Amino acid sequence: MCGIVGYVGNQNAAPILVEGLTRLEYRGYDSAGIAVLGGAGVQVHRTVGRVRDLTAALPKRLGGKVGIGHTRWATHGPATQDNAHPHTSEDGRISVVHNGIIDNATALRQHLTNAGVTLRSDTDTEVLAHLIARSTSDTLEGAVVDAISKVTGTYAIAVVDSANPNTIVVARNGSPLIIGVGEREMFVASDLAALVRHASQVVHLEDGEFASVTATSYRTFTMEGHDTGKVASDIDITADDLELGGYGHYMYKEIVEQPESLERMIQGRLDDRFGVSRLDGLNLSPRELRGFARVKILGCGSAYYVGQIGATMIEELARIPADAEAASEFRYRNPIIEADTLYIAVSQSGETADTLFAVEEIKRKGGRVVGLVNVVGSTIARACEGGVYLHAGPEIAVASTKALTHMAVGFAMIALALGRVRDLSNADGRRIIAALRAIPGQIREILRAEADIAQQAKMLAAASSLFFIGRVRGFPVAREGAQKFKEISYRHAEAYQTSELKHGPLALIDESVPTVAILPQDDLTDRNLGAVQQIRARNGSVLAITHDAVDFGELDIPRITVPRSEPELDPILLTIPLQLLAYHAALTLGHDIDKPRNLAKSVTVE
Ligand code: AGP
Repeated sequence: MCGIVGYVGNQNAAPILVEGLTRLEYRGYDSAGIAVLGGAGVQVHRTVGRVRDLTAALPKRLGGKVGIGHTRWATHGPATQDNAHPHTSEDGRISVVHNGIIDNATALRQHLTNAGVTLRSDTDTEVLAHLIARSTSDTLEGAVVDAISKVTGTYAIAVVDSANPNTIVVARNGSPLIIGVGEREMFVASDLAALVRHASQVVHLEDGEFASVTATSYRTFTMEGHDTGKVASDIDITADDLELGGYGHYMYKEIVEQPESLERMIQGRLDDRFGVSRLDGLNLSPRELRGFARVKILGCGSAYYVGQIGATMIEELARIPADAEAASEFRYRNPIIEADTLYIAVSQSGETADTLFAVEEIKRKGGRVVGLVNVVGSTIARACEGGVYLHAGPEIAVASTKALTHMAVGFAMIALALGRVRDLSNADGRRIIAALRAIPGQIREILRAEADIAQQAKMLAAASSLFFIGRVRGFPVAREGAQKFKEISYRHAEAYQTSELKHGPLALIDESVPTVAILPQDDLTDRNLGAVQQIRARNGSVLAITHDAVDFGELDIPRITVPRSEPELDPILLTIPLQLLAYHAALTLGHDIDKPRNLAKSVTVE
């Protein structure tokens, strides 16, 4: 959510910190700040608003070759300058930036106040600056360890000390933190995006790990002071992957690049001869795959909805009972973990706190959990015992699009792997593989109808409340459609099972409440058409997301058609127009599409 960046080297730190913060803005963005160590001591600058507001407030000359920076998404206290990071000790010597939540902050604040410290913010982070400054340790590393030993909760922190001006000390527990290795310069960051322009290699810190970073070296160690000897690995994305590349918005770029990114994803993973997928990263032998009696999918938000799409695919293709649950609920209900259940954690960022906690709970109880994750080396990917990387490339827009399509394709491949060690025939396996190979071209076809979809989006944008309805395979598609629409248009968009409409929500239908109906050609088409008749009879307008083959008879309603896939995979293509509907509605309404209000790309706090 919040973003951390740090620099130590031979260049001026301030422009590098500001650029890094700009790259992190997509994670959280109600205020920003930097602290730079130079000849004049430490200089701290903080503003409410975007990084561009911070840049405007910085003095022209801000010398110093060491510094830390932060973009904040408020948790403790509103977005004010006093609450923005970095937070400093009373003598100004120590500056700290922090992601996460210190659970015992109230007690520590009280303790510090009793000891005569005047607190200047409402934040949990400020206590860290005072605790570090008050430590009796004679090294910055020791002082940070001292302070951390007094706090509970989650954190990624970066600390600078004007009395020790060539070093940044960092620590991690429950919030991501990486070290970027450059040419006689080092970076720290909460996200690769902040350092990919400058660093060629990366070190991922583990929970409970600390590091002391100078321009030419880093040392990773534990709370007890033992070296952990972390080795750097190559960075797998390039700066170009993060550019807008001539597009107006990242969300649009990410929608239109789906055909190419999916081609990349399936390459080498489908075996036409045996009608099976090759997913070596799962680390599961055919015998183990055969041994699972159930599948449980865990994710949050849109990842959870795609998990529901995936559960249906697995049930249909592998005939194993499968369901999806919001990881944010699962982790709080003392779940029963079964040895013969395959747990799948699904996440774009690989850092979502609720999903990570669910993974840890499963592991703690001896369950087998694999990941379906986009960001290589992310915390969830590393916490799982195996998995399938999505290879969607960086996704910057808060509203997820391409990663979700990749997740759905990933589930289809997992369903194939589970199905082919059971009763799914070679012929059926090959049927699904052919359909998967066709999907990129079919998405291109849908994208060619963008002008028409944009027209429909304009009409939907005029309504303040909408329904998205679908049935069985179509219901998670409707949920995801409503989610995308509400995230960036700020319209009330409610997803409902088509079959349930008559049991209550139909009361809301009138000429002011349009419905988007997921209406594929399948064995439920007639029933779905019946529900549409009921809406029309109450003067509600309906937009159908459908197939050419559906016979609407006398029903004269607008339609967006998608090419047919194999029925089990239809949800993948039905989702694509919903991405464009949400995008164009938000465009019509003039909203900040890539950074919708109140939201952050990666939810690393509870
Ligand atoms: C998607 O548009 C949302 N921004 C959100 O629901 C997201 O899918 C969710 O927070 C999970 O994120 P993850 O995939 O990074 O775990």
